[in-house]
Amino acid sequence: MVIQKICCIGAGYVGGPTCSVMALKCPDIEITVVDLSKDRIAQWNSNEKLPIFEPGLMEIVQQCRGRNLFFSTDIVSAIRKADLIFISVNTPTKTFGMGKGRAADLKYVEGAARMIAENAEGNKIVVEKSTVPVRAAESIMNILKANNKPNSSYQILSNPEFLAEGTAVQDLLHADRVLIGGEETAEGQEAVRQLSWVYEHWIPSSKVVTMNTWSSELSKLAANAFLAQRISSINSLSAVCEATGADVSEVARAVGLDTRIGPKFLQASVGFGGSCFQKDILNLVYICECLNLPHVAAYWQQVIDMNEYQKSRFAEKVVSSLFNTVTDKRIAVLGFAFKKNTGDTRESPAIYVSTHLLAEGAHLHIYDPKVEPHQIVDDLNSSTMDPDIVNRNVVIHSDAYSATKNTHALIVCTEWDEFVTLDYEKIYADMMKPAYIFDGRKILDHDFLQNLGFHVQTIGKKMHRDVARAWGCFFLLVLGSIPAVSNMGVI
Ligand code: UDX
Ligand code: UDX
Ligand code: ADP
Repeated sequence: MVIQKICCIGAGYVGGPTCSVMALKCPDIEITVVDLSKDRIAQWNSNEKLPIFEPGLMEIVQQCRGRNLFFSTDIVSAIRKADLIFISVNTPTKTFGMGKGRAADLKYVEGAARMIAENAEGNKIVVEKSTVPVRAAESIMNILKANNKPNSSYQILSNPEFLAEGTAVQDLLHADRVLIGGEETAEGQEAVRQLSWVYEHWIPSSKVVTMNTWSSELSKLAANAFLAQRISSINSLSAVCEATGADVSEVARAVGLDTRIGPKFLQASVGFGGSCFQKDILNLVYICECLNLPHVAAYWQQVIDMNEYQKSRFAEKVVSSLFNTVTDKRIAVLGFAFKKNTGDTRESPAIYVSTHLLAEGAHLHIYDPKVEPHQIVDDLNSSTMDPDIVNRNVVIHSDAYSATKNTHALIVCTEWDEFVTLDYEKIYADMMKPAYIFDGRKILDHDFLQNLGFHVQTIGKKMHRDVARAWGCFFLLVLGSIPAVSNMGVI
C-alpha cells in the first residue's frame, strides 16, 4: 500500500500546522483535517485569520488549501477514504473523578477512536499524535478491535509531535527528529515504514527514529519533563541570585557553555506555561504513582512545585515592592500569552500573576499583541471564579501606551519583541510616580530604565542600587558579629 490519503482528526495547535507543512512537502498526498467545531474549520478556511497565530502558517495554508489540503467537518467521509488517520485531539488534565488534576483525560481520544471504529473499512493505519499516557495505544486498539467491522483491520502507531508554539512551522520543516513507535510484528513494522515514507518527503531518513510504541509514548512525556526541569532548575537559582547579588543570566551562560549541558532552555522567567509542560509532568507523576513508584513521582512533582513557587514569588515581589499594597493601584500587564509569537494563553503565568494581583485589589490594564480580549476575560473569570472582579477591575487595551498610561507599575509577563523597543521615556512621563517596572522575562534594558527614573525589578538579579544596599547590610552584620570591631563602635 502507498499512502495516498490522510485524515487528521483535530484541527488545533498540533493538527493544523502539522498537516499544513505535510501537505506542502507531500503534494502527492491528499490531506483532510477534520474537527467537530464548525467555527474552527470555518477559520481554517478563511483568508483573514486562522484560528491560531503561527508565523509563516497562513502562507503555507494559502498555498496548499484546495490543492491537497482540505479542512472539513465531514469526519465520516474523511475517515472512510483515508489510508492513514492521525488522532490529533486535545488531551487535557482530568478535572474530576479518579486522577483529578493530574491524569490525562482521554475522552477526546476515545471519541475519535470510536468514530474510526464505526466508520472505517479496509486496512487503516491509525497514528496517535496527541500526547497520551504510556500504553494509550493499547486502549485505542482495544476500542478499535471491540467495534471492528468484519472487513477492516488496523495498525496503531505512536508519532508524538515536538513542535513548539510560535516556531511551529520552522520546527516542522527542520525537525530535530521524528519519532515513530509501532508494534514489533511484520504488519507493525510495515506501518512504521509507510509513515516514515511520508516524513522522508522532507526529513532526512537518519532523523526518522523508530522504536516500540511504549518507548515512543514515554519519550514524549520525558522530553517535555526534561525541558521543564531545566527551566525550574534555573528558576530555582534565580531566587538564589536575587538573594546574593549573582546574576542568573551570567550563571546560565557559564553553565550552558559546558557542551554536556548546552545553552538552550536556561532562560529564567516568571515561570513556564503552555498546554504541555505542566499537563505532561502531572500525567507522568500520576503514572508513576499508579505504578507504585512514589519516589519517582515526588521527583518530577518538584518541577511543577518550583514553577508554582516562581510564579508566586514574582507576584509577591510586585506587591511587596509597591509598599505591600496594590489595593486600588493601577497596574499594566504587558503580554498575556504563555510565550511570544502565539496567541495561546493555556497555563500562561500571566493568568497567575493577574489573578494574584486582582485578589489583592489591583486594577489591571492588560495588553497583548495577539491574544483576543475575550480570551483574557475568560481566563481570568475561570481563574478568579468571581466575574464581578474582572468586570470591575480589568481593562483590556489595544496598545501598550494606553495600557501603561496613569498606572503605578508595569509588568512584563510575555517576551514579545515589541515590548523591547517601546518608547519608555514616553511611558515614564505618562505613569504615576514612583513608576515601577517588573520585568518577568528579562528582556528590557534595566540600566537605561533606571536612568530614566524607573524603579526596576527583574528575575534572578538584584538591581545595582539594591545590591549596594544589601552588601552594606551584609558587611554591617559581619562586622557587628566581630566583637573587636563592634567595640570600636563601627555600627
Ligand atoms: C564532575 C564533573 O563532570 C566535572 O566537570 C567537575 O569538575 C567535577 O565533577 P567527575 O565527578 O570526575 O566530574 O566525573 P563525571 O564524569 O562527571 O561523573 C560523575 C559521576 O556520574 C560518575 O559516577 C559517573 O559514572 C556518573 N555518570 C555520569 C552517570 O551515571 N551517567 C552519566 O551520563 C554521566
Ligand atoms: C513545548 C515543547 O518545547 C515542545 O517540544 C512540545 O512539543 C510542546 O511543549 P511549547 O509549550 O509550545 O512547546 O513552548 P516552549 O518553547 O517549550 O515554552 C514553554 C514555556 O517555557 C513558555 O512559557 C516559555 O516562556 C517557557 N520557557 C522556555 C522559559 O521560561 N525559559 C526557557 O528557557 C524556555
Ligand atoms: P492541541 O494543542 O493538542 O492541538 P487543541 O485543543 O488545539 O489541542 O485542538 C484539538 C482539537 O481537536 C479541537 O479543535 C477539538 O475540537 C478537536 N476534537 C476533539 N475531539 C474531536 C473528535 N472526536 N473529532 C474531531 N475533532 C475533535
